Amino acid sequence: MITKAPRGTQDLFGDKLKTWVEVENKIKKLASEYGYGEIRTPIFEHTELFLRGVGETTDIVQKEMYSFEDKAGRQITLRPEGTAGVARAFLENKLYAGPLPAKLYYLSNPTFRYERPQSGRYRQFHQFGVELFGSAEPTADAEIIAIGKELLDRVGINKVELHINSLGGPECRKKYNEALKDFIKGNLESLCPTCNERFEKNPLRTLDCKNPDCQKVLEGSPKVIDVLDTECKKHFETVLKLLDEMEIKYIVDSGIVRGLDYYTRTVFEFISNDIGSQGTVCGGGRYDKLIEECGGSHTPAVGFGIGFERLLLVMVAENGAKEYKPERDIFIGSIGEVGMTKAAAIVYKLRQQGISAEGDLLGRSVKAQMKYANKIGAKFTVVLGDNEIEENKAVIKNMNTREQTEVNLDGILEFLQS
Ligand code: HAM
Repeated sequence: MITKAPRGTQDLFGDKLKTWVEVENKIKKLASEYGYGEIRTPIFEHTELFLRGVGETTDIVQKEMYSFEDKAGRQITLRPEGTAGVARAFLENKLYAGPLPAKLYYLSNPTFRYERPQSGRYRQFHQFGVELFGSAEPTADAEIIAIGKELLDRVGINKVELHINSLGGPECRKKYNEALKDFIKGNLESLCPTCNERFEKNPLRTLDCKNPDCQKVLEGSPKVIDVLDTECKKHFETVLKLLDEMEIKYIVDSGIVRGLDYYTRTVFEFISNDIGSQGTVCGGGRYDKLIEECGGSHTPAVGFGIGFERLLLVMVAENGAKEYKPERDIFIGSIGEVGMTKAAAIVYKLRQQGISAEGDLLGRSVKAQMKYANKIGAKFTVVLGDNEIEENKAVIKNMNTREQTEVNLDGILEFLQS
């Protein structure tokens, strides 16, 4: 057990982590260009926040949360998504008192869901997300979608599709729930117990059920988009028009209902067909009622979350895994104790000047040291023995051209800089 990480988690290192960090840097640049500031919220929150925010009849709350009682008896949950925590922080830190809209992003947020692990689905995963608070305008929806599209472009992902839908406002939802109930009610006995509960409390969530019997009953069920009121319809049409103007392609897809309860009006997903069943790389939408649900005043909002693991899977599927060759400026080899001491001091001084220098830490033969220098991609090598130290001179070898240059020991830095 102690040599195996818990199911659904993974270690990150090597080339994969390098690609991950490169993506993080691209995100930081993109977020700053779009005017989004970083926010870091706690990994755990009061369970109540997710019950209210995400919704009691969602899969996340009913089946997937890592919840526990802390030593003082508080009900705590490891964050199963990023939006509720950011909404709580927006209120607690009075970010609404600053310039609006407030535009925030979070990066590589560890996020936890107790789901059945498979490719692209983990129990600990990481989200990049953006959240925009204080605008009800369709331009805000379009800006959020544009960020997602632009990020995918910048990391070289071209084959994902943007699926978009509208869930309408609370009135549309009421009307839709009635229509859905009418559609289902003759077949209640064919639905699983969870769907029966959802039928009573939150019919929309029956659409999330993976049970084939339930899915059969729900085939051909009414669509939210058909019951949108004039305002919601207009909002949706304007979002689509903005996307047309931005030349962002989309598919209107009434099947996108998202698995979280806070959504109102626009919902969308960027979906890849290249990574199997867990193809949703990015999911988001508008959530105009969440801040009120958390105790604040009316603050419309919109945002999305991208799973880092899935993003990387799609990048690899489309362009292959990136390989990084190791690289060092110089390897200072040594013979004997005096040479090793001098080499260690020179390595230290070169590193102080920003040179990536490396020395021998294993007391190896010169041949073995040179093999190592090759493996770590040293551009130059030099070997210090008694003679070199006595004469204060050494020969630097360019590992690419094989060219050799004699330098003073205290001239190595100048040589490398030139
Ligand atoms: P979500 O669709 O539940 O939305 O998750 C967003 C993204 O997180 C998914 O598209 C997927 O890439 C990734 N993801 C979700 N679950 C897993 C998992 N078990 N393993 C790996 N990756 C996963 C939200 O979380 C919303 N908070 C998004 C949002 C932000 N809406 C508005 N603002």
